[in-house]
Amino acid sequence: MLDTATVQIIKATVPALQIYANDITSHFYPLLFSQHPEVLPYFNQTNQGKGTQPKALANAVIAYGANIDELGNLSDAVSKIVQKHTALGILPEQYDAVGSCLLQAIKAVLGDAATDEVIDAWAKAYGQLANILIAAEESVYTANEQKEGGWRGEREFILVKREDESSVITSFYFQPFDNQGLPDFEAGQFLTILFDDIDGVAVRRNYSLSDAAGKDYLRISVKREPNGVVSNHLHNNIQLGDKVKLRAPSGDFTLRKNAKPLVLLTGGVGITPAISMLNTAAGSGRDIRFIHAAINSDVHAFKQHVDTLAKANSNIKPLYIYSQPQAHCQPHATGFIDASFIEAQLPADRDIELYVLGPIGFMKAALAIATSLGVPASQIHFEFFGPAESLTA
Ligand SMILES: Cc1cc2nc3c(=O)[nH]c(=O)nc-3n(C[C@H](O)[C@H](O)[C@H](O)COP(=O)(O)OP(=O)(O)OC[C@H]3O[C@@H](n4cnc5c(N)ncnc54)[C@H](O)[C@@H]3O)c2cc1C
Ligand code: HEM
Repeated sequence: MLDTATVQIIKATVPALQIYANDITSHFYPLLFSQHPEVLPYFNQTNQGKGTQPKALANAVIAYGANIDELGNLSDAVSKIVQKHTALGILPEQYDAVGSCLLQAIKAVLGDAATDEVIDAWAKAYGQLANILIAAEESVYTANEQKEGGWRGEREFILVKREDESSVITSFYFQPFDNQGLPDFEAGQFLTILFDDIDGVAVRRNYSLSDAAGKDYLRISVKREPNGVVSNHLHNNIQLGDKVKLRAPSGDFTLRKNAKPLVLLTGGVGITPAISMLNTAAGSGRDIRFIHAAINSDVHAFKQHVDTLAKANSNIKPLYIYSQPQAHCQPHATGFIDASFIEAQLPADRDIELYVLGPIGFMKAALAIATSLGVPASQIHFEFFGPAESLTA
């Protein structure tokens, strides 16, 4: 517990930190990467370049300061950070490095306003948050290790199958090199793939699992991004029999196990965790609307799979909307999702579980539509294929 004087200083300095948040994180990352280059491989440099990760860290620190005397408000945010950290393999000993650089950055940006008292208070507050995260992360590592077929850290897998799902998305099927079985995971979770050397750089990326649990493989489905480091490496260089290193499944964008109608609303490559959810829930009898937005049928992944499942299970209704259909495309609608298109798929009581994933603009539109139609906020679930961003700003 922090003492009252520390809590008061933290609350009094949150507004200044809010104003200078971007400056502080812009100072923080270069300090961290120059003083502790060993943490570089953990960070996706694209997210640094786009500024999305610095913004996510700044928002987290400010939210923590603002809620310093009511930490219960932060449990969802803490859980998301823990899932991301454990997916990437963040270790307790790295917290001192991050804390020291964060305090140096606060001092550099706030100047004289960052008195010894202020820095001392933030050091204590950071230490408290670090301890909360370290303990929660250790519980996840232990649970992953103790699960049947589970593991801690990195594990070697072999690519046993590749399959094109569209002109831009390919599925990769991995089996453990040690033949020691696989853990159960929740539909909607993601794993982390690590490469020690792509053009001289060590990188790691998250990929959603795109099939249900209980198979003898883990499957990811990857979109080839223009100039993307890892997606192009997977598409161009990884062949059957090649070894890769994977970290255990993580994430809290998971299928709620109830009987409510399920609406899976995805755009582009955001379809991947929805396929895992669909495959998991298909035989449950639960009403499932599988709504997918794509540019056209060439880039529309898993169409045949979803159509086949829907033919065999009358509880599944697929709906495809294409923004730029070609002459041979046969979507159910054209253009972009709007309120009337979505409303037609919802029960009158709106008592559904809605899962949304796609480009940021798509998710913003989906949230606005779902909210305007009266879907309860606690039943709308989002995942981000990068650091979390605001969907209302
Ligand atoms: C939880 C989660 C689940 C995910 N699941 C999937 C999935 O199932 N399938 C999938 O395909 N992806 C998924 N992703 C995304 C994935 O992790 C990678 O981000 C994606 O594959 C791109 O990685 P890359 O190394 O190929 O591209 P990167 O090298 O990271 O580049 C991505 C794009 O950004 C551009 N770029 C690079 N630097 C900048 C900059 N400074 N400013 C602007 N643009 C820049 C690049 O040219 C490229 O087009 C998921 C991400 C998360 C967080
Ligand atoms: C109290 C301390 C910390 C806080 C509040 C914090 C907060 C965050 C937040 C909010 C995210 C973004 C989550 C998301 O939306 O995806 C994140 C991601 C991340 N954090 Fe932390 N973090 C802390 C400590 C650390 C430490 C010690 C490390 C170790 C080097 C670390 C490494 C990372 C990495 C690598 C990511 C993913 C970045 C990316 O996508 O490139 N964090 N953290």
